[in-house]
Amino acid sequence: MSVLVTGGAGYIGAHVVRLLVGSGREVVVVDDLSTGAADRVGDVPLLRIDLASDEAIGDLARAIRTHDVDAVVHIAAKKQVGESMQRPAWYYRQNVGGMANLLEAVQETGVERLVFSSSAAVYGVPDATVVDESVEPAPINPYGATKLVGEWMLADAGRATGLRHTSLRYFNVAGAGWPELGDPEALNLVTIVFDRMARGLRPLVYGDTHATADGTGVRDYVHVLDLADAHLAALDQLDAPGRRHAVYNVGTGIGASVLDVIRRISEVSGVPLEPEVIAARAGDPAELVADASRIADDLGWRARHGLDEIIASAWAADRARRSRPHD
Ligand SMILES: NC(=O)c1ccc[n+]([C@@H]2O[C@H](COP(=O)([O-])OP(=O)(O)OC[C@H]3O[C@@H](n4cnc5c(N)ncnc54)[C@H](O)[C@@H]3O)[C@@H](O)[C@H]2O)c1
Repeated sequence: MSVLVTGGAGYIGAHVVRLLVGSGREVVVVDDLSTGAADRVGDVPLLRIDLASDEAIGDLARAIRTHDVDAVVHIAAKKQVGESMQRPAWYYRQNVGGMANLLEAVQETGVERLVFSSSAAVYGVPDATVVDESVEPAPINPYGATKLVGEWMLADAGRATGLRHTSLRYFNVAGAGWPELGDPEALNLVTIVFDRMARGLRPLVYGDTHATADGTGVRDYVHVLDLADAHLAALDQLDAPGRRHAVYNVGTGIGASVLDVIRRISEVSGVPLEPEVIAARAGDPAELVADASRIADDLGWRARHGLDEIIASAWAADRARRSRPHD
């Protein structure tokens, strides 16, 4: 029996793969390497399949049978909010189309367990600053919408076939479990600041008049290793009797402001940083923090790492990446 991880060659997926292998599971990765890298999966078999392609259903069904797959962790997706606003149809084709193909293959082969990478982006700009899973999802961009539609598709598949599924709504993921598995893209605050430091530029702060303690945006940063661990807990719980929920927030329940993060990066790196405040972005919530009590109660999962460990590990990974010779 093995676990199929889609997107296992990506930033988060590679951490999930490594923890699964470490827990003694057989793993097979499906990834089209559009943003992932083959060297992140080690010795684990890697099948190069584009989930959104016409051939995907057949290719996936074959992979599931060949590798005796009994559970899927579906992480593969396109994840850039701005790009999703410029190319909405393509985002739906990638993320929703990819999920549709995967679910057809899952139904055809009779796989009964699936864990899905959802996102706090499904909440949009909620009234509450600390959100629990009962807050009505209202995504404000196509990326967030594709994640919410993915959750609906799973619910429908579950009703139709008995598929047992869990959607994990990740908050702001950062850090690295191993230096070689750091996030290579400058798409979240931590790696964006690193990128600007490398180019000799000041970190940007989008608005300092939000209704927060220091006026800058507050988010819930979760260590990628803790997040990866939540997938193992979610997989185990799919076999537990009397499951009550199919959706869980994954966060720490603790908010950090943009200035907190920049200050911490300056301390860890030893580089003085003078942030430059520019106009706030439309649609950016002042504060978005997870109520993470449901996942603690049901799955026994809690974040073990705080902001200091997130930034120290991310910095070590960034140093390692920039010192590697380019090929
Ligand atoms: N990074 C975050 O802060 C964050 C927050 C919330 C949710 N998520 C979700 O977590 C997941 C992983 O994010 P990540 O940060 O590791 O991104 P990533 O880009 O590093 O990983 C995505 C992986 O999926 C693969 N992929 C993309 N489209 C594919 C397709 N059509 N077919 C096959 N493989 C495909 C990519 O090659 C890559 O390896 C995504 O679903 C994302 O929406 C991430």
